[in-house]
Amino acid sequence: MGYAIPVQDGVNQAVYFSPRVYSRYQSRHLTPREAICLQKYQQFIADKDVLDVGVGTGRTTGYLAPLARNYEAVDYSPVMVAYARKAMPDVSIQQADFRDLSTFRNETFDFVFATDNVIDALAHEDRLRALGEACRVLRPGKILALSAHNLNYTKAFSGPEFDYHSNPRIFAANFVQYLRRLKNYKRVGRLRTTNSDYALLNDTGHDFACLHYYTARSIMKGQLESVGLRLVEVFDNDGRSIEEGEDDRDSPSLLYVAERL
Ligand SMILES: C[S@@+](CC[C@H](N)C(=O)[O-])C[C@H]1O[C@@H](n2cnc3c(N)ncnc32)[C@H](O)[C@@H]1O
Repeated sequence: MGYAIPVQDGVNQAVYFSPRVYSRYQSRHLTPREAICLQKYQQFIADKDVLDVGVGTGRTTGYLAPLARNYEAVDYSPVMVAYARKAMPDVSIQQADFRDLSTFRNETFDFVFATDNVIDALAHEDRLRALGEACRVLRPGKILALSAHNLNYTKAFSGPEFDYHSNPRIFAANFVQYLRRLKNYKRVGRLRTTNSDYALLNDTGHDFACLHYYTARSIMKGQLESVGLRLVEVFDNDGRSIEEGEDDRDSPSLLYVAERL
């Protein structure tokens, strides 16, 4: 029997493969916690081999590529790859899937980065496959840094909220966005599921059109360990390194740093 494409995959590919998806990814800035993380783990980046997975339009490329000895970027979206290649013709950007990084040999990289919740577009089994691939291409003792949605976030299960504004033009734009969000919320929201380890939820990302995997730190730790990665530390939304059991309810996602054993 062939591989059945998970429903979650289809929903998210419809968004990430859409013709103008790059227009939502025009920022060139790091978030505070990304900056803190990259600074702290700079020894694994500077003059080292770096892989940026799910690079999108290349927001992070300008920070990593000049530092690294070799910088490789991949994304599974042909639209993102075409855009990024055109914007950064000197950078190696390949169309490849996090679940299958076979374009790279075992133990090729010192730092694998997958920021802005790339992994959460994948269904459960595929998530474990992707983590396994990240582990395989890392050298022993080297680092995976990836962000993932946080099941403890207070608004994880919320629906669209109308953002009132006194300026009539902003009010109108917010209203149009609210209607779009409501429509997507109903359409994709039918696929929401929850079990003891994780939930699949649509959220403000792409106006509720994506279906994201949300889990908690303890589950993520076990998933990393199951493929041969040891959790080193976790950054909250503000870039604070937080301990197990600390309150993380204000963070929509967490940035995990793990070491290949
Ligand atoms: C939220 S965007 C983040 C883009 C970029 N990392 C950033 O921080 O600006 C998620 C990106 O991951 C890519 N992506 C999602 N699933 C992927 C997969 N299985 N393999 C490779 N790329 C994937 C999407 O095409 C999209 O470009």
